[in-house]
Amino acid sequence: MAEILAAGEALERALTLLQGGDVVAIPTETVYGLAGDATNGIGVACIFEAKGRPRFNPLIAHVADMAMAERIAVFDPLSRKLALAFWPGPLTLVLPQRPGNGIHPLVTAGLDTIALRMPRGFGGDLIAKLGRPLAAPSANSSGKISATTAQAVAADLGARIKLVVDGGATPVGLESTIVKAEDGRLRLLRPGGIAAGEIETQIGMEMLRGGGAGVEAPGMLASHYAPGAAVRLNAGTVGKDEALLAFGSQRAEGWHHAAAFLNLSETGDLREAASNLFAYMQQLDRSGAPTIAVEKVPFEGLGEAINDRLSRAAAPRDNTQPKT
Ligand code: TXA
Ligand code: MG
Repeated sequence: MAEILAAGEALERALTLLQGGDVVAIPTETVYGLAGDATNGIGVACIFEAKGRPRFNPLIAHVADMAMAERIAVFDPLSRKLALAFWPGPLTLVLPQRPGNGIHPLVTAGLDTIALRMPRGFGGDLIAKLGRPLAAPSANSSGKISATTAQAVAADLGARIKLVVDGGATPVGLESTIVKAEDGRLRLLRPGGIAAGEIETQIGMEMLRGGGAGVEAPGMLASHYAPGAAVRLNAGTVGKDEALLAFGSQRAEGWHHAAAFLNLSETGDLREAASNLFAYMQQLDRSGAPTIAVEKVPFEGLGEAINDRLSRAAAPRDNTQPKT
């Protein structure tokens, strides 16, 4: 069972776990978050594993200060104005990533944008101490509602995580508002803890609505990463021009002819495979091979989310949409 520690005495223990690539449930002003080091792929894979999420949707990266935020993302004037007005607080900004920012691609599900927020309270102190951003979705198992007390987190995830930091009931009680700047306008992607009207007053114009409705369903994100190459699943053989994305120790027939080759996990470790998935697909895509053959990945544990992502990559493309 997870240990529950009061926020006042949990900092060192939380730091040790995060530095070891583990996850910690932490209070924020909105809801409890299940946090892992956003630069550590295994830590981020553990978040998905503990939540039992059947797919990899992009997570919010939490920062301690503006300097950390600017190292991760490129701010336009509108987004910077909102950050200065509302951070720390329940506002999340979707921004272009700064290349080389060290954020693990599993955090953003391979997108070139990132959702950033600066939380109030314990989370902020923890991130400042760690010196690295924390990826954190709401601390509830997949399909359940967000937890607003440490007891609710422990009842739901207690068997799967080591530490819940108790900061009392979260003051806001619902998730952050998510917005994204688009050519000088602002789009509301998810209503939340800061009222849309408050944001509109701050920027002196109305926000765009809609188009973000599918944001919870990553397959509906228009810009979601899909490789340029065709993707062929459950490959038992490899064609001459094909790149091979392998898994485990058993090789598909003809693998040594593959145009390019990467193994998600030599030892068949699904956490390792999850943490390598987006980067390896992108790398094999860049090899220029017209097809990426993918070996079978088992469906257990994180395998479900890995297979979900792979089958989206393999699905027929809608050629009427420009590829982004
Ligand atoms: O208050 C909150 O926001 C809480 C606390 C823990 O910070 N976190 C939270 O995270 O609600 P989560 O993972 O449950 O929701 C994150 C939302 C998802 O709807 C996801 O699709 C969206 O953020 N998102 C993340 N990155 C995105 C991106 N690059 N573009 C568009 N949407 C993104
Ligand atoms: Mg959630």
